[in-house]
Amino acid sequence: MSSDVLSVLSYHVAPGGRLSGRHRVPGDKSISHRAVMFAALAEGTSTITGFLDGEDCLCTLRAFEAMGATVARLDRTTLRITGVGIDGLKDPGTVLDVGNSGTSMRLMCGLLAAQRFGSTLTGDASLRRRPMKRVTEPLAQMGATIHTQAGGRAPLQIEPAAQPLNAIRYHSPVASAQVKSSILLAGLYAKGLTEVHEPEASRDHTERMLSAFGVRVEAREGYAAVQGGQRLRAIDIEVPSDISSAAFLMVGAAIAPGSDVTLDAVGLNPTRTGVIHILKAMGARISIANERTIGGEPVGDVRILGSALHGIDIDPRWVASAIDEFPALFIAAACARGETRLSGAAELRVKESDRISAMCNGLRALGIDAVALADGARISGGRLRGGSVESLGDHRIAMSFAVAALRAEQPITIRDCDNVATSFPGFSTLMQAAGLRLRVSTRHP
Ligand code: S3P
Repeated sequence: MSSDVLSVLSYHVAPGGRLSGRHRVPGDKSISHRAVMFAALAEGTSTITGFLDGEDCLCTLRAFEAMGATVARLDRTTLRITGVGIDGLKDPGTVLDVGNSGTSMRLMCGLLAAQRFGSTLTGDASLRRRPMKRVTEPLAQMGATIHTQAGGRAPLQIEPAAQPLNAIRYHSPVASAQVKSSILLAGLYAKGLTEVHEPEASRDHTERMLSAFGVRVEAREGYAAVQGGQRLRAIDIEVPSDISSAAFLMVGAAIAPGSDVTLDAVGLNPTRTGVIHILKAMGARISIANERTIGGEPVGDVRILGSALHGIDIDPRWVASAIDEFPALFIAAACARGETRLSGAAELRVKESDRISAMCNGLRALGIDAVALADGARISGGRLRGGSVESLGDHRIAMSFAVAALRAEQPITIRDCDNVATSFPGFSTLMQAAGLRLRVSTRHP
């Protein structure tokens, strides 16, 4: 069954205001996905706290339950998962629908390619438009047989593996944690050492968490390798708050004069902190306190004060570590003095939507001079008039335009906001508590 739904939610955000208070955004999406997958593959019972109960991670959870993991939900964000062991996954007996979630589809594709049962992975209309050859091609080099739709799109039909996969040394053309992780997970089942080289370092949650589950992983910047035939042992995992969700409050506070927001226990893995470097380079006042490690990941409490931002040329070295935060950063650029230029970010065109055109079109609709480039954008800071924008069903586009209202002259309406629940359940309530004048309306289809 397909997970497509008619969109019913719109956001209406009154202009002005500021953000304040101490808040905790929900758990990290990337880490929550991996926690479920690895707990399901481990021997023994793992407890996960701070789990992100957003739609994307719930898709992963349902898929692994269908393949034999036993899940007890102690409360919304606490799970106890009894794994099946590395060779214990069973045929789900049904199509696995992972909704909007690229991480679920690409990581699970690697895992499923190595199983003795066949499987089919599908998702919503957005996910069925996204490129999957980036995982199916290297997996085919390892000996997997995966049938795609035209252009390498999902649904993906994965044939049973007749024999163990071959280890490969793969030089990925893109810096992508989903590609790297997909290959490493297949590599757990391969004979020999599976190695992935990347052009830039992508997020390293897979490497960190596999190590915590007792797997020997060789990892350094732009390289990761795993030897096949290793087992995972259950552990307890605490999931940090998602810096990608924190980014909306960080940008909102930075652009709105008089704001003072503190966000507790935000994940500060160096492969994810590009948004902080970029905002600081634009003049944002951000400080970090109480730095510590939870669940093998660095975290800290992040305080952001409203400030006058200025445009910058974004250093291409920050692109991979801020890849999900560019929609929010485009709003910061629209509120900054002067021009902000981004290049080297063509990956933004193949996210949940084409985020370069979605953001530039939306910004122009609000009166901002925004020029889309093949691999980035040029945005001139200016007056945000207000008006109506399309999120294209992309959660991060919807949330970005919601915070833009803090600096708008007129209300902003954002249509098609249902998918905010994929990554940031409770967004509207938390943002209202922080000071955003947000109202949600429901249209009954
Ligand atoms: C993710 C990796 C990134 C990111 C996505 C989550 C992950 O995608 O954009 O939101 O959890 O591995 P790519 O691997 O395509 O860069």
